[in-house]
Amino acid sequence: MKRDSIRALTASRGQDDSALRSVLVSLPGFDVEVCSNSYEQVLARGGLEDVQAAFVYLDGIEAEGLKLVGRLMASQPDLAVFVVSEKPGTDLVVSSIRAGAADVVAADAGTADLLKHMVRLVEARRKLPGGGCHKLVTVFSPRGGVGATTLAVNLAVSLKQQTGARIALVDLDLQNGEVPAFLNFRHPYSILDLVENVGNLDPVFLQGTLYQHSSGVAVLPAPPMLEDSESLSGSDVAAVLKALKAQYDYVVVDTPPVLNDVVLPAIEAAEPLYLLTGNTIPAVRALQRVCGTLKRVGLTPDNMKLLVAGAAAAGEVTDDDIADVSRLPVSGCLPSDPTVAGSALSQGRSVFAADEDSKLAVAMSAIAARLAGPAAVVKPPQRRGLFSRFTPAGGAS
Ligand SMILES: Nc1ncnc2c1ncn2[C@@H]1O[C@H](COP(=O)(O)OP(=O)(O)OP(=O)(O)O)[C@@H](O)[C@H]1O
Ligand SMILES: [Mg+2]
Repeated sequence: MKRDSIRALTASRGQDDSALRSVLVSLPGFDVEVCSNSYEQVLARGGLEDVQAAFVYLDGIEAEGLKLVGRLMASQPDLAVFVVSEKPGTDLVVSSIRAGAADVVAADAGTADLLKHMVRLVEARRKLPGGGCHKLVTVFSPRGGVGATTLAVNLAVSLKQQTGARIALVDLDLQNGEVPAFLNFRHPYSILDLVENVGNLDPVFLQGTLYQHSSGVAVLPAPPMLEDSESLSGSDVAAVLKALKAQYDYVVVDTPPVLNDVVLPAIEAAEPLYLLTGNTIPAVRALQRVCGTLKRVGLTPDNMKLLVAGAAAAGEVTDDDIADVSRLPVSGCLPSDPTVAGSALSQGRSVFAADEDSKLAVAMSAIAARLAGPAAVVKPPQRRGLFSRFTPAGGAS
């Protein structure tokens, strides 16, 4: 069964939080991480973007504790704040809820009580805009080796982290699909199995056929044998993508650097299509050719987000040149970071697991956050000025 992840903290003034912590970390169906803090430590934290639940101990320091609840809610309205008390009475419940707390829990609360709160928290997160949005998001680069698969894989992982929504990642690079290597897994099933059962793609079948990665992303690999991939048609792929879109909130598609019958359905139905280009003359020439074709298939610039890879490296062409040639604004950039990209790939994990503070990880999170919009409840770290490289809302969304 899929487990939901929650990061929580406790805030106390010397009260013992061990009973609550041990119940939280062993809740069935959840992976709860709990970090103990004093009031001062909580107030000193730069941000609480990575935390979904806070438990504030209040006994003996009620006024101060309620003030902390108010400050937590003001700084992060998405946070579920619970007041913890040895003997929660009616007055405390009223004053806590007035201060913005989600509820009051007893210091010796048991599994059933805390489970109820955590299930509500997760369900509320799912109901945010983005839960149920059913978007197909395609990553395409007109030239190979620019970082399209790196972007698709990490966009899917970051969307999961930030929204908790149902995410599928499809490897449409039927000849050289490398998504399993990027996420370090082997799986007996592939897109072929969905094509063969296209009339029967219910949630149970999909759950059993897609690889359930530990990040929470469900992955559909490319066929293991080259000759198998040749039997797939554009209409097969269109049918599979349609079925996945009906079951998942976001379907992120990785594509090879060619526009063929199999790739076109993912490009035509994308919202948005991330068009990734390098900042070299051959890459920009390839971009120019592809933009002409995309226009002819009727893809509107509204559905395309142009991203420039390798922007920190000395490029041969500027963002303005790229925008001129493609007639698309540059929505954002992915910094060149061979160390983090290489270490993530060689270890088969995301760039966030390799180094979540790296410029590349921050840039990837920012793209996912813009795509998710208000559904991004875990906001990306706002540092290193990288956000300034993205156009305002409506840009790299
Ligand atoms: N932002 C980046 N900075 C530096 N290196 C990167 C970056 N993104 C990807 N790479 C590296 O570039 C190589 C190609 O990456 P990736 O496979 O994601 O590109 P691709 O466009 O999907 O290539 P292909 O055309 O083979 O499918 C990998 O070694 C990867 O680690
Ligand atoms: Mg690739």
